[in-house]
Amino acid sequence: MDVPLFASRASLEPLLDEVAARQRRVLDGGRYILGPEVEAFEAEFAAYVGAEHCVGVANGTDAIAIGLRALGVGPGDEVVVPSVSFFATVEPVVTIGATPVFCDVDPESWVMTAESAEPAIGERTRALLPVHLFGNPAPVAELMELAGTRGARVLEDAAQAHGARLDGAMAGSLGDAATFSFFPSKNLGGFGDGGGVVTSDPEVEALARRLRFHGSEDKRTHTEAGYNSRLDELQAAGLRVLLPHMDEWTAARRSAARAYLDAGLGEQVAVQAETPGAESCWHLFVARSPERDRLGAALNEAGIGARAYYEVPLYDQPAVQRWRPPEPLPNTEAICAEILALPMGTALDPAAPAAVTDAVRSALS
Ligand SMILES: Cc1ncc(COP(=O)(O)O)c(C=O)c1O
Repeated sequence: MDVPLFASRASLEPLLDEVAARQRRVLDGGRYILGPEVEAFEAEFAAYVGAEHCVGVANGTDAIAIGLRALGVGPGDEVVVPSVSFFATVEPVVTIGATPVFCDVDPESWVMTAESAEPAIGERTRALLPVHLFGNPAPVAELMELAGTRGARVLEDAAQAHGARLDGAMAGSLGDAATFSFFPSKNLGGFGDGGGVVTSDPEVEALARRLRFHGSEDKRTHTEAGYNSRLDELQAAGLRVLLPHMDEWTAARRSAARAYLDAGLGEQVAVQAETPGAESCWHLFVARSPERDRLGAALNEAGIGARAYYEVPLYDQPAVQRWRPPEPLPNTEAICAEILALPMGTALDPAAPAAVTDAVRSALS
């Protein structure tokens, strides 16, 4: 049985006519930047997350740069970053002139915890930037507590976590602010690039709104050197069609994850553990095996999508190696050497988890 790594396209198909009709209305209206679709999407997405405000921006990477700056982070400040993530987590820390300090992650849940972040905190720490990796929320409450005692703020990188929950609350509603990506492959993915900064703090919201528009509130006076980084009307129109389906899609991903475990995958390979109290939205379903490369090749050979990521600790990326920790971080090193993403999506064939598990079993036997 052929199984693609990303299995969500079929869920979008029935909605595409409505997306096209809504986008056609934008084309007819002729207003393409910061109009009624962005405004409505911002209100609807903030309500979905359970926060007061959403500021739509051009992508999830800009969202982090704008989110950090809106929280008061600037040149010379240190930001604690987990070492297992996509490069876009650390990139904006560098581009705003702050200093990344890499921390390790939990060996089971693979996310930043208070225990793993603590050793990276120092006098210049201004923010913690936990990543809800592959949809599994980092324990934000304990990170907020830790940050509070050190005069730092918490920005959730929720690029992979639309619909994930922690103790019943949505990921993205737990820190001082959070950032999302609406890149097409994300759980809420649009039809091009898009991103958002979510917060319930009105000052953070106001600064984020200025920063996305050249540091200006009124288009005449520029109080900060910011960005030209807005979510497009065409994107917002499309995302508004998709947003009402998120609960159903998150449930589909969660039941696919459960099906893998019911099929006995956990007896063959280690699977990312959900943080205590968390409901992952399973952006990716990632397993861990000391035989990762052999296993991945065997699955691909059998027509099953499987891909190693993230196989390089963030601090080993050439662009940020100068901030490498003095010693390699042990959990990060072990996780990056072993992780392998397996097929997941809102339209994963119900027979796929058992078939993939069988293929894993025979590859490892
Ligand atoms: C963890 C993480 N952070 C940030 C980003 C950046 O999002 P974007 O691609 O929209 O810039 C991504 C996705 O690419 C991501 O996976």
